Amino acid sequence: MIAPVDFPSSRPQGYEWLPDEEVFDPEVHLDIGEPEFVHTLADFGYAPSDCEGLATDLAATGPFRILSDRGAEVMLDSARRLRAFTRRASTRVENAVRGGCYRSRFLRDLCLSPDVTAAMSRLYGAPVAPHAMPVHLGHLNFEPTVLTEAVDKWHHDTIPLDYVMMVSDPALLKGGHFEYFVGTKSEAADLASRGQRPPLDRVVRCEFPGPGWAVGLHGNMVVHRGAPLDEPGERITMVNAYESLDVAHDLQCRTRDLIAVDDHEVLFAEWVRHVAWRARHRLESVEREAPFGLNADGAIAMLERAVEDVRSAIDDMRAGYRESEHYEQ
Ligand SMILES: [Fe+2]
Repeated sequence: MIAPVDFPSSRPQGYEWLPDEEVFDPEVHLDIGEPEFVHTLADFGYAPSDCEGLATDLAATGPFRILSDRGAEVMLDSARRLRAFTRRASTRVENAVRGGCYRSRFLRDLCLSPDVTAAMSRLYGAPVAPHAMPVHLGHLNFEPTVLTEAVDKWHHDTIPLDYVMMVSDPALLKGGHFEYFVGTKSEAADLASRGQRPPLDRVVRCEFPGPGWAVGLHGNMVVHRGAPLDEPGERITMVNAYESLDVAHDLQCRTRDLIAVDDHEVLFAEWVRHVAWRARHRLESVEREAPFGLNADGAIAMLERAVEDVRSAIDDMRAGYRESEHYEQ
């Protein structure tokens, strides 16, 4: 296991802290519970070979509590203030706030909370850390302006692991459920190629008992969405991303999709740091473990694996913009 990346001590240009936020206090703002059930990737139809290189075989958890009543109040207040910074994140999501942890200290401290990270590591059965790219921390989705539009269309995430938390009160909403498909990505792609969405009898509609409750997700493997609202209402969710602290695991990121989404002032610096961090640790293990008797093919394989994230980052940066992948138009 390796040490996680520290949150940057400086902030990008143009990002100011929200004034007068309540200071995050885990004793006051957290009330972490356990989900009543979990599903594995095998339950969703994935074969063992699909799961090689992944940090965990967990697919999704039942709802569990993260925030206390007071924590949920402060979270909602901060999210409402961050609404001023919404932008169209992609053709997938109309209204999202990225980089909120550079604006809200409360959101930053919640997303970096060691208590929550420990709870997520328990759920995943593997040591994880908050994602090394802070644009993936505290992602906020807000309801779209067009009622019939999905809040976030069917997709799998650009990051490996996350939780999706209700920030606004789910009891006040008609529709707008967080839903996931009990199936594989390739099944979802097959359906999409025939112009179909996941069938209702294979879709789980999450029922959150209140704000501050979340579901844990293997977001890169589980196809999910924020369904359309049936009536206008305030719908805010927060997604916090995690990644494995064992760099032997795959990257499981589609950072290239973010070129169309994130502020370039922030994105490229975070992207470079992320892959440099992983490659540094992978190279260290090559340095430590390369055995006498290693042949050329073995040596090449070790080195290629160590720098694969760096190589693909360079290729992706050169290739540039692409529309964020998802399963419907
Ligand atoms: Fe997602």
